Amino acid sequence: MCNIERYLLQTDLEMDKIICIGLGYIGLPTATIAAGKGLNVIGVDINERVVDTINSGNIHIIEPGLKESVQKAVAAGNLRASTKPEQGDVYLIVVPTPFRGNHEPDITYVEAATRSVLPFLKKGSLFVIESTSPVGTTEKMQQLIYAERPELKGQIYIAYCPERVLPGNIIYELEHNDRVIGGIDDVSTEKAMAFYAKFVKGTLHKTNARTAEMCKLTENSSRDTQIAFANELSIICDKAGIDVWELIELANKHPRVDILQPGCGVGGHCIAVDPYFLTSDFPAESQLIAKSREVNNYKSAWCVEKIRNAVLEYEMKHTKKPIVALMGLAFKPNIDDLRESPAKYIAQNIMQFEMDGLQIVEPNIKAHHIFKLTDYKVAYEQADIVVFLVAHNEFKALTQRADKVILDFCGIFKR
Ligand SMILES: NC(=O)c1ccc[n+]([C@@H]2O[C@H](COP(=O)([O-])OP(=O)(O)OC[C@H]3O[C@@H](n4cnc5c(N)ncnc54)[C@H](O)[C@@H]3O)[C@@H](O)[C@H]2O)c1
Repeated sequence: MCNIERYLLQTDLEMDKIICIGLGYIGLPTATIAAGKGLNVIGVDINERVVDTINSGNIHIIEPGLKESVQKAVAAGNLRASTKPEQGDVYLIVVPTPFRGNHEPDITYVEAATRSVLPFLKKGSLFVIESTSPVGTTEKMQQLIYAERPELKGQIYIAYCPERVLPGNIIYELEHNDRVIGGIDDVSTEKAMAFYAKFVKGTLHKTNARTAEMCKLTENSSRDTQIAFANELSIICDKAGIDVWELIELANKHPRVDILQPGCGVGGHCIAVDPYFLTSDFPAESQLIAKSREVNNYKSAWCVEKIRNAVLEYEMKHTKKPIVALMGLAFKPNIDDLRESPAKYIAQNIMQFEMDGLQIVEPNIKAHHIFKLTDYKVAYEQADIVVFLVAHNEFKALTQRADKVILDFCGIFKR
C-alpha cells in the first residue's frame, strides 16, 4: 500500500472504539477522559480487583475528580473494564516501565501488553505506546508485531505519545497539556494526531517515535539535573554556614537564573527512574545525567548522617536520648504516594538505629504496614529533634519553636 492509499485509509477509518491496556494512574484517567468525550472505551487490566472496582463505578487510586468521571463514564456505558483485550480501532499501551535492580529499564510489561493485543490488530488499527520507554521501544514493538503478524506490515499505524501529567491535577492536565506525538512513519503520526485531537485541548506536536520517546526522558532528566544542582548547593551552603533558601531567592533575582528548591532527595516513579533509561543505554554519553542521579541519591544519605549527628550531639549535651520526629514520608508535598520516596528511605535508615523515641508522621496517610504513624501536631509538640523531610502544607502552618532542634531539609520555615 502506498502512502497516499494509507493516508486515505487513515482519514476514512473510524477511531471510536478504544482499548486501553493498563488502568493505573495514567491509563484510567486517559480511558475516562476519552469515554467522557463519547468514545467507546474498554479499559483492560490484568488485576481483577482493579477491573471489578472500576466496573462498580469506583476507583483504586487517589486522584481528585477521577471517581466522579469514572462513575459518569461507566453509568453512560462509555467505559467498561475487562481483564481481557478485545477488538477495537485504537490500542493504547499504558503499563508500567520500571527498572531492574541494576537500573536497566524493564520493558517486559510493554511487550506483554503488546502481545495481548496482537490477535485483535487489523488493517487500519492504531497502536500507541504511552508508557515512558527507552529510545527504540516503539520500533521494537513494531518488529514484534510484524514478526507475529507479517500480513499487517504497512497496514496498521504505530506511534508513541508520552504522558506528562502532574499527579493531583491529572484530570485537568491530561486534557490541557501539550502532547508530543511521534509515529514510526508520517501517516502513523497523522493518524495518532487525529486520535488525540478527539480529547486533548492542548497543542499536539508532531515528531517521530524515537524523538517522542527521547523527549519524555529528556524532560525528567532535565528536572532531575536541575534539582541535583539545588541539592548540591544545599550541601555546600550547610558547610559554608549560608542559608540556602535565602541564597537561592537572591540568585533567582538574576533575570536569567532560575534555581529550583532543594529537598531530601528525589523520588517518585518518574524523575527518580526515567534518567536511568538514558544512563543505561548511553553510559559514556550521559555523564551529567548519571552524576545528577548520584547527587540526588547522596542527598538522602547526607540527611541520614545529619540526623544521626544531631541525635549524638543531643545525647552528649542532655545526657538522655531525644524524641525525634520525622515529618513526612511521601515523595513530594501534599500527596500520599511513597514510591521511590527519599523521605521513606531516610525513615527506614533511621529506624535501623532503633531509637526509642522515634515518631514518624505522614498526614496524607491514615495507617501504614511498616511505619507506626503519629499525628503531626502531637509529634511536633513532643519531639526534641524535628526533621522536616517533605514540605506538606500542614507543616507550613506550624510555628517555629526555639526549644527544639530543627533540621529543615525542605524549607518549611524559610523566610
Ligand atoms: N503516574 C504518573 O504520574 C506518570 C506520569 C507520566 C508517565 N507515566 C508512565 O505511564 C506508565 C504507566 O504508569 P502508571 O503510573 O499509570 O502505572 P500504574 O502502576 O499506576 O498502572 C499500571 C497498570 O497496568 C496494569 N498492567 C500491567 N501489565 C499489564 C498488562 N499486560 N495488561 C493489562 N494491564 C497491565 C497494572 O495492573 C496496573 O494497574 C509508566 O510507563 C509510567 O512511567 C506515569
